[in-house]
Amino acid sequence: MVYTSPKSGPAAEDIASRISALNNGSQAIVVQADLSTVEAPDKIVSATTEAFGEHIDILVNNAAVLLPGSILDATANDYAATFDVNVRGPLLMTKAVVPHLRAPGRIINISSIAARTGFDGLAVYSASKGALESLTRGLAAELGAAGHTVNAVSSGPVKTDMLADVPDKLVQIQLQRTPVEHRHGTVDDIAQVVGWLSDESSRWISGQTIAAGGGYQML
Ligand SMILES: NC(=O)c1ccc[n+]([C@@H]2O[C@H](COP(=O)([O-])OP(=O)(O)OC[C@H]3O[C@@H](n4cnc5c(N)ncnc54)[C@H](OP(=O)(O)O)[C@@H]3O)[C@@H](O)[C@H]2O)c1
Repeated sequence: MVYTSPKSGPAAEDIASRISALNNGSQAIVVQADLSTVEAPDKIVSATTEAFGEHIDILVNNAAVLLPGSILDATANDYAATFDVNVRGPLLMTKAVVPHLRAPGRIINISSIAARTGFDGLAVYSASKGALESLTRGLAAELGAAGHTVNAVSSGPVKTDMLADVPDKLVQIQLQRTPVEHRHGTVDDIAQVVGWLSDESSRWISGQTIAAGGGYQML
């Protein structure tokens, strides 16, 4: 598990302890790394192979940033800050993991309904998720011969810290347009889909973007 903000350290350590406490052989390690830097992926992979051995089975590219605002206020630095984490991060993580990936490997990229829907104030973030979905298809084509699958999960609104950065009027529109119970998704709603895509039973699915948003987007 990777985090970057010092304030997230205790929460990450807590999840790692809870995973060990399951007593079913599962173990987790916590790595602090800044995925906006090009060095982070090698640091994460080294820590992982040191702890668990040479092979890696599953990579979930979840980290992302969202800097809301009008395009008139957006700067080149905002663009770089967004794309460095949301697009270059998954690209370099994949590059670092692939030499260790044991077939049938699984790569799952966390996208957003914003990739395919225009939201006022979220153009740069949306563009980064669109790029991530394209990257998913390209990687699926490239890595399939080795027996790996690469998919994206396009999340609808979920109650996390990130949602606090989405303007409230957009959140209200999103809830109205979510057919299933007109509610926010939960972390578990998304994790279930990621879990299935990580499982052997998803073996014939690759290059797909699975919409997990209570029907918000029917792709
Ligand atoms: N919440 C939603 O409504 C929603 C909707 C659609 C898609 N998504 C997607 O779901 C994924 C998870 O987002 P979330 O809602 O859980 O957002 P969040 O609460 O803001 O969490 C973002 C995560 O990314 C990590 N991160 C950010 N910048 C990083 C960096 N430079 N290096 C390493 N880690 C970094 C954060 O680590 P720290 O905690 O250490 O900062 C945090 O764990 C993202 O890909 C997001 O785009 C979320």
